[in-house]
Amino acid sequence: MRDQAETLRLKMMKWQGELGRAIAVVSGKGGVGKSNFTMNFATTLAQKGKRVAIVDMDIGMGNINILIGKNASYSLKDYLEGNNTLDEVIFDGPYGLKYISGGSGMTGVLDWSQNMFDRLIYAFEELQKNYDYILFDMGAGATNWSLDLLASIDEIIVISTAEPTSITDAYSMMKYIHVRDPDKQIYILCNRAFSKEEGIETNERLKLTMKKFLDKDVLILGSLPEDPVVRKAVREQVPFSLAYPDALISKTLQLIVVRFMDHRAEEIHAHDQTSKKFLTKLRSIFSKGRD
Ligand SMILES: Nc1ncnc2c1ncn2[C@@H]1O[C@H](COP(=O)(O)OP(=O)(O)O)[C@@H](O)[C@H]1O
Ligand SMILES: [Mg+2]
Repeated sequence: MRDQAETLRLKMMKWQGELGRAIAVVSGKGGVGKSNFTMNFATTLAQKGKRVAIVDMDIGMGNINILIGKNASYSLKDYLEGNNTLDEVIFDGPYGLKYISGGSGMTGVLDWSQNMFDRLIYAFEELQKNYDYILFDMGAGATNWSLDLLASIDEIIVISTAEPTSITDAYSMMKYIHVRDPDKQIYILCNRAFSKEEGIETNERLKLTMKKFLDKDVLILGSLPEDPVVRKAVREQVPFSLAYPDALISKTLQLIVVRFMDHRAEEIHAHDQTSKKFLTKLRSIFSKGRD
């Protein structure tokens, strides 16, 4: 175990190139629109010429490939279990977008081993070298291993709807993440807002609560409206941003993507530090001595 971690660390240290932005899309409650957001956010970035990969972390219950409308013969699970190489589980989506499927039809919980976790971190490394943006569509809620993975991802987008239960669950999730890493860049986004005001109010509420109870500043990414084209696009198995570019939700998403791209642009000089921070985090994960 130690040897593997050591090898990975040395490899990381040798890497001098630019690393892509790794972003996890999370929520407290399920069904708030994470997968649809991830998919369309990724498609919009790819349309702008960015190299983008999606990793469906909802292992055994993944639906990114269904939303893309394509079949993936192998999933992340096959890679983690050592049955396939990383290249073999990466599939093509629209506009050069790549994705790793979460796989479906799995019953029971995946039994995480140290080896699987190492393989996941290795994949994460490789993707960061080869893509500009890597989006992790996380399953709902917080498990130990998902929080471990989140520890090595610098940017988190938290999705909530305006429902009180969704807001409190989103807050709990952010709290978990914040306790483990107070420096994490957290963005919040209200999905399925019935009005502009509802979106603003939801985001403000979450932002204020984070500030008041955890003294944490989170960034408001924006809000996306409740829009019937989402459902239509899901049924047609195409991203709404491609099939319905003139819909309110697609136009709003365009603005959100541009804002998100610009945000990092302002901080681009911090890149060296980001890589170093990432190494420190990896080290702390490995030194926990998990089996
Ligand atoms: N902005 C939206 N407007 C209307 N329906 C939406 C919107 N976002 C998501 N949905 C619907 O909500 C359901 C759950 O979305 P999904 O992306 O699968 O959520 P999650 O990945 O968080 O479980 C889907 O049926 C989808 O059509
Ligand atoms: Mg999902």
